[in-house]
Amino acid sequence: MDKLLINGGSVLNGTIYASGAKNSALPILAASLLADSPLKVGNLPHLNDVTTMLELLGSMGVDVMLSDEMEVQVDTSSIQNLNARYELVKTMRASILVLGPLLAKFQKATVALPGGCAIGSRPVNLHIDAMRAMGAEVNIEDGNIKASVKGRLKGAKIIFEPVSVTGTENVIMAASLAEGKTIIENAAREPEVIDLANCLIEMGANIKGAGTDQIIIEGVERLEGASFRVMPDRVEIGTYLTAVAMTGGRVKIKSARPEYLSAVISKLELTGAEINFGEDWIEIYMGKSKPKAVSLTTGPYPSFPTDMQAQFVSLNAIAEGNSTVTETVFENRFMHVQEIARMGGNISLKGNTAIIEGINTLQGAPVMATDLRASASLVLAGLVAEGPTVIDRIYHIDRGYERIEEKLKMLGADIERIS
Ligand code: EPU
Repeated sequence: MDKLLINGGSVLNGTIYASGAKNSALPILAASLLADSPLKVGNLPHLNDVTTMLELLGSMGVDVMLSDEMEVQVDTSSIQNLNARYELVKTMRASILVLGPLLAKFQKATVALPGGCAIGSRPVNLHIDAMRAMGAEVNIEDGNIKASVKGRLKGAKIIFEPVSVTGTENVIMAASLAEGKTIIENAAREPEVIDLANCLIEMGANIKGAGTDQIIIEGVERLEGASFRVMPDRVEIGTYLTAVAMTGGRVKIKSARPEYLSAVISKLELTGAEINFGEDWIEIYMGKSKPKAVSLTTGPYPSFPTDMQAQFVSLNAIAEGNSTVTETVFENRFMHVQEIARMGGNISLKGNTAIIEGINTLQGAPVMATDLRASASLVLAGLVAEGPTVIDRIYHIDRGYERIEEKLKMLGADIERIS
């Protein structure tokens, strides 16, 4: 099994390009199920989760053509079965995103119920309730969500509590082909929701309000394919910026969308980093100074993203001063804390808050990746630790970070993939 070996201590300098956003690519690929003609998706990141989604579509008989530049053309005219099997769903919970499109387009869907998850219980009750509210009959049988609807789904008023990103996305996709108007209240405002809505609008959907907490969808009878480029990955960008705030140096990230990173940028500035940006680039300068500790609380967009929480725990572990990091989105997203503690970090957990006493330096150690963002936090810790860090189970990292060791190496890090 692959591992990452990092010899800490290098300052990061240089320029890299951001990859396409995983959490935008996944719903957009699922949306291809709604179209009567092929959907072309560009700027797809080369990630295990994207491969899993393509495999999922392929397993239904959908024709997926991939070009060298990771542009994919998805043609659903050859679809044979409407079944998202457990073998794929268990490796990627976002498989639930095919539920809405399958029901809306083919009036039937069987999606394996996702099981437990390393970051919390993550139920899918809101997805199921929403499909029921739109007229579907949904039963749980043999570990599967079995859903069907007579005729088209019907527009409905859906109120999310709590706010759910993929829940909102499932409803937007289902409502796009439903009969009548759907109003989503307390909708997720994440930029990836806007990206999906923009793609659906290109396909002929009538969607208003994406990016606000009320989204109104007027169902249409058919959607066509289109050509769409996935937005840049704000979490990937945020992760590299945080790395530089820890190591020092100057790094420019091109193909970025800084306007979606406001909460992260504000916190990075409080660490002492200087940040400059234009419409499609962002640059961080940290010089040689140590970061100052920053306290934060995660929340749905536009609050500080839970997907950046682990990386900031790493930063605070070596920062000047004490801090608290409070997680409000997922109940168990602190698996990285014990691993960073193995590297000497002084962190204690009290409920959903990590209390961190910044120390001068971490010590390299063998550590274990437990989920995607936890893994990223261990890479950052390894970059500043004294001596070698070996991160095991890095398949978690490959789910969400494209060529992470190549990008970091280009910036001067001493990192390599070993087996
Ligand atoms: N929730 C329910 N019932 C539901 C759905 C969600 O109670 O039916 C709860 C969850 O348990 C959680 C909260 O609602 O406490 C918010 O979860 P949400 O549904 O928004 O999460 P998600 O849609 O499953 C997406 C991202 C995650 C990201 C979260 C929060 C995708 C594919 N995944 O998950 O990304 O952390 O939103 O922003 O978009 C990652 O990339 O590492 C990742 C985990």
